[in-house]
Amino acid sequence: MKATAQAHSNIAFIKYWGKKEGFDSLKLPANGSISMNLSNLVTETTVEFSERYSVDKLDFNGTENNDNIRSKVSEHLDRVRKKAGVTTKAKVVSRNNFPHSSGLSSSASGFAALTVAAVSALELQLNEKELSLLARQGSGSACRSIPTGFVEWVAGRSHDSSYAYSIFPPDHWDLIDVVVVIDAQAKELSSTEGMSRAFKSPFYKERLKNIQEKIHTCTEAIRKKDFEIFGELIESEALEMHSIAFTSHPPMIYWAPETLRLMLETQRWRKAGLPVYFTINTGHDIHLITTPDHEKKLVSLIHKSCTVKKIIMNHPSEGACITKNHLF
Ligand code: DP6
Repeated sequence: MKATAQAHSNIAFIKYWGKKEGFDSLKLPANGSISMNLSNLVTETTVEFSERYSVDKLDFNGTENNDNIRSKVSEHLDRVRKKAGVTTKAKVVSRNNFPHSSGLSSSASGFAALTVAAVSALELQLNEKELSLLARQGSGSACRSIPTGFVEWVAGRSHDSSYAYSIFPPDHWDLIDVVVVIDAQAKELSSTEGMSRAFKSPFYKERLKNIQEKIHTCTEAIRKKDFEIFGELIESEALEMHSIAFTSHPPMIYWAPETLRLMLETQRWRKAGLPVYFTINTGHDIHLITTPDHEKKLVSLIHKSCTVKKIIMNHPSEGACITKNHLF
């Protein structure tokens, strides 16, 4: 009744921003999205179901006192327990090797790892699509951390049709994602909260009109490994998502001054000939995307231009899987 899983966080190139009206709790997105799993942003989670536990216990990154996270984990365990037809409580120990709640999508890797570990601990036989559907209900972006490599999440119209699948394996294109951790402080506004305000932006409907075409262009750019088309698209997509946030009500600004500085520097470096584009989720930390030949130069420029807490280098990586390294 004990199993351990690991899952990688993912970076969305075409963003999930907003849920279908009336489907908040199912986490059905208003639009599809495209992402890549990140090799060095990893969550490991061990789940043990046992009659010894009278309540669900959670140790999250060495602390047991996070009630908000504990109740979300418990709700997710309920979904898995329901599938298995049991009520047994569980102990969960989970570790991230990167800061959480600062825009690096720890809920994606977190709920993907939790789903795979809990399903395996209860000996349920689920296929990849079923795991993705389940992970999505914990946190939308988690459904994209189940399959391998480059991934599309189809928005769907119902619970059963909203899941992610792999469009290309990790070795299809060796993109480098340089994650720049500007500040490891947790952000003040969650993505869930931000998204619930998206409909209030006058530009939101316009975004949804064009998103299917963007998904198509992004997939084709990845297929052809066309870095320029890909880069232009993902940078403007990130700015579009944040423009929706700026113009929602109340407005939301997720960036820190250093975030903006790095965005401007990225555009300058590019003008000077370095192939690099940025993308960013909801937080101050930023992802700079380049190709392997330019990785060293980029890292040295980042260090010269601003004070950063940490730089995490990532390649495309595999999806969620079972491991043997139990955390307790
Ligand atoms: C900006 O998946 O964290 O990172 O489904 O409410 O848990 P919930 O939201 P979450 O939102 C991710 C938003 C994003 C864009 C993306 O990853 O596509």
